[in-house]
Amino acid sequence: MLNADLLILHASQLVTCASPRGPKRGSAMREVGLLEDGAIAISGDKILEVGSTTDVTARYTAKTSLDATGKVVCPGFVDPHTHVVYAGDRVAEFEQRIQGLSYMEIMAAGGGIVSSARAVRAASVEQLVKETRPRLESMLRLGTTTLEVKTGYGLDETNELKLLAVIESLATSQACTLVPTFLGAHAVPAEYKTTPEKYVQLVIEKMLPRAADWYGESLFKARGIPFFCDVFCELNAFNLDQSRRILEAAVALGLGVKIHADEFTPLGGVTLAVDLKAVSADHLDATTEVERVRLANSNTICVVLPAVNFHLGSAHFADARALLDAGCALALSTDINPGSAPCPSMPLVMAIASRYQHMLPSETLNASTINAAHAVGLGAKVGSLEPGKQADVLLLKTSDYRHLSYRFGENLVETVIKNGVIVQE
Ligand code: NIG
Ligand code: FE
Repeated sequence: MLNADLLILHASQLVTCASPRGPKRGSAMREVGLLEDGAIAISGDKILEVGSTTDVTARYTAKTSLDATGKVVCPGFVDPHTHVVYAGDRVAEFEQRIQGLSYMEIMAAGGGIVSSARAVRAASVEQLVKETRPRLESMLRLGTTTLEVKTGYGLDETNELKLLAVIESLATSQACTLVPTFLGAHAVPAEYKTTPEKYVQLVIEKMLPRAADWYGESLFKARGIPFFCDVFCELNAFNLDQSRRILEAAVALGLGVKIHADEFTPLGGVTLAVDLKAVSADHLDATTEVERVRLANSNTICVVLPAVNFHLGSAHFADARALLDAGCALALSTDINPGSAPCPSMPLVMAIASRYQHMLPSETLNASTINAAHAVGLGAKVGSLEPGKQADVLLLKTSDYRHLSYRFGENLVETVIKNGVIVQE
């Protein structure tokens, strides 16, 4: 007999989402790797074995075991696009939108991202950590065990570095794995409104090199977690040429790249993402057929964010079905942020994606686990239940994984195991 630290036994459905050869596409998106009466053996922070309860109990003993009878066991969710570090809220803008103003109108009038930037600039590292921690705790309770976290509400050298410090502080003081992304080019700050090109220069010449230096000394580098640079390529934000120059500068510094593309306006961000071998292209609400084919022929993951459309009261969603049918590798994400999606819940995102984007429950689950892990460069470490991977595991209070998309408005996540430790029961 071999020793494990923790056994999970008798899962009515154990869904592995395993995909040893990279992200899932096409018909593989409908396969969740389902085992009935499934079991997992965990040692330390890693998965040792996944199989039938009969096989696993024949080989392993452990001091602790969990009975998953009547439950689903699945990988912890990966949320690959978040702006979860912010101060205050934008509930007043929410009321303005209810009364008829659009997100873009509010942004053009000096609200939106730059109003969150005012709040972030006024807050200390400690204050930002304190405001963000409960949001991460909500996410964990809802099953998210790994998330990408962007800067982007600092919009100057000091405050963007402050946000990186907040992300690093949170990485050591709560359970989720965090993946940092520098988003200095999230909006043109008020002081550069008439001279946006000067801000682009500042991002390229000062902010990005300092962010790269920060990463070199950070615990993320030491832990093998990648660092990305993202740009909001949009009208009234950064145009295609500016986005290209910023992302090329990031590539030259050794960072991975991501892009907010086609959220409202198709400016060519997808083609740029594919050219630069971006790890992901995100939003894709206005992406054309030609660009879907480009994405399908690339390794760039399509991250779609339907909680944004829902929160903005829009009936238009990214055409996830067409992306999937074209053969793209697709992931889902909350985009949690104070303006366009104050939403910590991956299960709610799955529920919306099934209803408005015609994604099957199997597809929403793969898009929230293994493919989302690839969208943050951690496909080899998290996102599926496979031997050698991080033991990030959920027990659900349902015996059918499809209920994750089918039911909404309640939390089906009962137990969260992060790095082999039960962090939520
Ligand atoms: O992904 N589009 C840009 N960034 C966010 C919104 C951030 C905000 O409104 O504060 C998004 O939707
Ligand atoms: Fe975003």
